[in-house]
Amino acid sequence: MKIIPVNCTLIAGMCAALCVTPLAAADSPREHLSLDAGWKFHLGDDWPGALHLDKAGASTGPASDKSFSDAAWRTVNLPHDWAIELPFDKTADMNHGFKAFGPGFLTNSIGWYRRTFELPKEDNGKRIWLTFDGVMRDATVWVNGWLVRRHEGGYYPFREDITDAVKFGDRNLIAVRVDASKFEGWFYEGAGIYRHAWLDKTVPVAIAPDGVFVYSQFKNKVPADKAEIKVEVSVLNTLTNAVRAMVSCKIISPEGRSLASFKHSEEVQGESTGTAKLKSAVSSPVLWSPEFPQLYKLVASVSVGGKIVDQKETLFGIRTVGFDPTNGFLLNGKHYELYGTCNHQDHAGVGAAIPDALQEFRVRKLKEFGCNAIRTSHNPPTPELLDACDRLGMLIMDESRLLGSDSENLHKWDVQIRRDRNHPCVVIWSVANEEFAVQDSPQGANAARTMQNYVKRLDPTRPVTYAAPEGDNFWGINGVIEVRGWNYHPGPDMDTYHAKHPNQPNVGTEQASTTGTRGIYEKDPARGYVVAYDEPPHQWAQRAETWWSWFADRPWLSGGFVWTGFDYRGEPTPYSWPCINSHFGILDTCGFPKDNFYYYKAWWTTNVVLHLLPHWNWPGKEGQEIRVDALSNCKSVELFLNGASLGKQTMKPDSKLTWKVKYAPGTLSARGFDANGKVIAETKVETTGDATRIQLTPDRKAINADGEDVSVFSVAALDAQGRVVPVAQNKINFSIEGPGKIIGVGNGDPSCHEPDTHIPHLSARSIALNEWRWRLAKIPGNSSAAPEFANDFDDSNWNTLKARTGGDTGELTIKTENTTAIYRAHLKLTEEDLNGSGVPIHFAGADDEGWYFVNNQFVGETHDWGAQATFDIKKLLDAGDNVIAVGVNNIGGQGGLNPNVSVDIIGKPSIPQWSRSLFNGLAQVIVQSTRDAGEIKLTATADGLAPATAAVQTQPCVPRPSVP
Ligand code: GAL
Repeated sequence: MKIIPVNCTLIAGMCAALCVTPLAAADSPREHLSLDAGWKFHLGDDWPGALHLDKAGASTGPASDKSFSDAAWRTVNLPHDWAIELPFDKTADMNHGFKAFGPGFLTNSIGWYRRTFELPKEDNGKRIWLTFDGVMRDATVWVNGWLVRRHEGGYYPFREDITDAVKFGDRNLIAVRVDASKFEGWFYEGAGIYRHAWLDKTVPVAIAPDGVFVYSQFKNKVPADKAEIKVEVSVLNTLTNAVRAMVSCKIISPEGRSLASFKHSEEVQGESTGTAKLKSAVSSPVLWSPEFPQLYKLVASVSVGGKIVDQKETLFGIRTVGFDPTNGFLLNGKHYELYGTCNHQDHAGVGAAIPDALQEFRVRKLKEFGCNAIRTSHNPPTPELLDACDRLGMLIMDESRLLGSDSENLHKWDVQIRRDRNHPCVVIWSVANEEFAVQDSPQGANAARTMQNYVKRLDPTRPVTYAAPEGDNFWGINGVIEVRGWNYHPGPDMDTYHAKHPNQPNVGTEQASTTGTRGIYEKDPARGYVVAYDEPPHQWAQRAETWWSWFADRPWLSGGFVWTGFDYRGEPTPYSWPCINSHFGILDTCGFPKDNFYYYKAWWTTNVVLHLLPHWNWPGKEGQEIRVDALSNCKSVELFLNGASLGKQTMKPDSKLTWKVKYAPGTLSARGFDANGKVIAETKVETTGDATRIQLTPDRKAINADGEDVSVFSVAALDAQGRVVPVAQNKINFSIEGPGKIIGVGNGDPSCHEPDTHIPHLSARSIALNEWRWRLAKIPGNSSAAPEFANDFDDSNWNTLKARTGGDTGELTIKTENTTAIYRAHLKLTEEDLNGSGVPIHFAGADDEGWYFVNNQFVGETHDWGAQATFDIKKLLDAGDNVIAVGVNNIGGQGGLNPNVSVDIIGKPSIPQWSRSLFNGLAQVIVQSTRDAGEIKLTATADGLAPATAAVQTQPCVPRPSVP
């Protein structure tokens, strides 16, 4: 590649000097910290009154940073999806996979998360930003008891500047109440903080959130000679005075060479954002494509007064995209067929909470059969999916959740576009999917037009489509949208429409919806299985061969996106209970291929493919006819049973071959021939023996010791000759040693109700502490103890306190205002009680103020008669007798301590026992590293089978910077 001299053009009319000194990331004061690890989680809406809107910072219960202990809560790391942990329930929502949450399951639909973090004193003066990449579904967020954000919508990131609410040189608390009781889509969506969370620290003048945009352009959209690189950097100035910011950019080549440096100075007014527009060029660039996903890097830095105040690195690709009415999709100026799949975001074992490495695993699986494009149906993706697609080479149709030009929907659209527009993988935006109620109306057209125009303001490089479930119909949205999207309807309607609207490009936004269950060749509605032969499907759907052969003959259609790449939870079409996941996938929920995988691989790749179905284990069917299909791109295929030819057939392009074969156990084999009659492929399917042993195969044998990376193990049952037994359903138990843990198991069975996760349980024993003695007494009213709080104080002649029924404050013992009293109770504990994970004590109220002491040591205070304080007092307790003392001040009316006090003794978390049955010979285990380097050993055992152990090394690495 030729490096052209630095060519800096300042659109704003200013031209600045050339090369800047190379910058190291360390020069930047920005800290971008992961906030994923170490959250406390509680399922259930046990504090329905926690949100207080009367006074700032007045929320109570877990929302409060004072007077609440989460010691009894489970520790989880993000991403986390609690829905995957719930049981299946026949009365739950079918389309969401019959998991017991959502409408009718209130207790399981609301969860609380809490996490503390320290901010050093030295951070005072910085801006502190809190970002959630996705919370399913409605989030209420508090920082130190302050309500800082309410966000609706499970697929959009949200970010808050929490600088004013945090404490520097102190401990801070984030509390999030997540309400997943209302669904958004009609498919499994998960529940909880199911994407990453971040804490960013910047100085007051810094690059704005999502404030870097870099894109390349060529003359006439055809890559030739040099690419013009355009950059926009938005600088956020939170100071009250204006500043002059110098924005400096560098372009780094895929091999790490510095290609160009350019800069521009911009005056940014106080408390506002200014955007610097810069451009440069790269000559003879390496073009990004799925086959050659080469990434350049833009390093953008901002200096004020000669000092660097911020720096960000952005990966980008140099390429052009376009949709042409005649030539279909164009990548880098040439026709490029979209071999796409639509996908939802869940995977076996982990639901919607997908570790980054699993995103990569899924992209690789799709690429195995030639898929080169994903439609993120029907919502914005997680950023790490886009990162994986940039790196591995996969195109993206980036879809909005909903059609709408109201301010909230446009804001979400804005956030989505700004976040995703640097990714070379994104080649088209989709405003929505199948908006039946409005798609043919002028209002639907108006909203789509507004969303489309919005794209043009933020992204001059990509077109816009709408996934229309319609035939030859130009009303409404189809009449205004740039690229006509086709959901289904392959057939004459497409030709008619194209003839009538020859200037509108087209794309197959959603096709097929054919159903099949992996390894099933006999229909079984009772168990909820569909045959994998790709038989004529239900209503709107088409077989793979039907839709694909139609599209393959018409390049102007741009190719299309199969519904779906992976099976997903929910939508168990054509069945209902006991079936809990879809059958549409080319891959099952684990990523194991179904037979259609080989159909697409044959016609979407240049590999020679020859695959036979079904399996050949049919005891009892001797002499009966069985349908045998060959999926292949060979010119002709000859089939043999136990060596005898069953005939040779010629393959038509984009089709497959079928024989009827009288079953006899043994070997079914095939030979594939090229046009000259030369054998270019051979395959066989054998009748296996019974399963005798287990096989474990990790997808990666070395992973990072960062607490996030995963290895995906395939589990198979083999016969004595080492062949996978395609009908084996053995229950397999798993155990793990070393620096790793199992985070999920699956098997691709659409009707399996075994748990995907086995979560550790905390045993708990509750002690009612309602025998109190009291008397009026002076109290210090702060964290110092009064003599009456001492353990050995003799309270035997004090009054006793009765619980009051029907009231919320107990017996009103203090009758006059501005009067104080002291209350004492004894708590007897054993050594074992103190060996667990925590001892939270729950107070039902101190009217009006309370100061709480354990063994003469202060634990906290409340200043609201309704506050129900909880403190973890484990570290203040001794085996034997303990004294709990409370000083109460009654400010007005009557008051006192509510004696309904309880103490929970929380045991150690249980060690989960993991297991999963094989489905048609296979299952999957997802293993995640800890932060220790070493060897993880996964062992699988089952009754009657020889066990297997497989190892994965966890390698030392620099984990991503995170909040401790
Ligand atoms: C489509 C819809 C998809 C899915 C599919 C099932 O119409 O866009 O979300 O429901 O049907 O066939």
